[in-house]
Amino acid sequence: MRWIYEYLSSDHLRLDGYLEKAVAQPDAIDVPAYAEFRKGLLRHIGMEEKILFPAIARLKEGLKVEGFDKLRLDHGALVALLVPPPSRPIISTIRSILQAHNASEEGVGGVYAELDSLSEEETAKVIDQLKAFPEVPVLPHNQRDGILEITRRAVERAGHRPEF
Ligand SMILES: [Fe+2]
Ligand SMILES: [Fe+2]
Repeated sequence: MRWIYEYLSSDHLRLDGYLEKAVAQPDAIDVPAYAEFRKGLLRHIGMEEKILFPAIARLKEGLKVEGFDKLRLDHGALVALLVPPPSRPIISTIRSILQAHNASEEGVGGVYAELDSLSEEETAKVIDQLKAFPEVPVLPHNQRDGILEITRRAVERAGHRPEF
């Protein structure tokens, strides 16, 4: 169980590092660092939605899991924020969502803590699935008119304030 927690929380740190690097210079966005962040966050969200949340839902035998709806809305907002080309206000919005989101996943009573209740068999299965989880296909940024408005709505739906 510890392995899963460590794996996912160190992924949070790794992704924070890329995002910090993306905006480290005041006058330009570090495009390769942002591309690594984007690819990594899409994979991280994929692992949570396709492996972790279903494993916890099986554990709860169909009962509603506290906090899943909010985490899913946050994931929707984050994925939407990765669609347009990056700007400082977009990155700043991502950072503020991730700060609260990651803390709530990792914190006491958070979704990662539920992992402690998985059986040994389930834990082994989740570890195997995480290790085998493929890279997620990444589309080019979408620059069409109106894309920022769509992104803004996804951010607001999740209860966050868009800074763009
Ligand atoms: Fe998440
Ligand atoms: Fe996460």
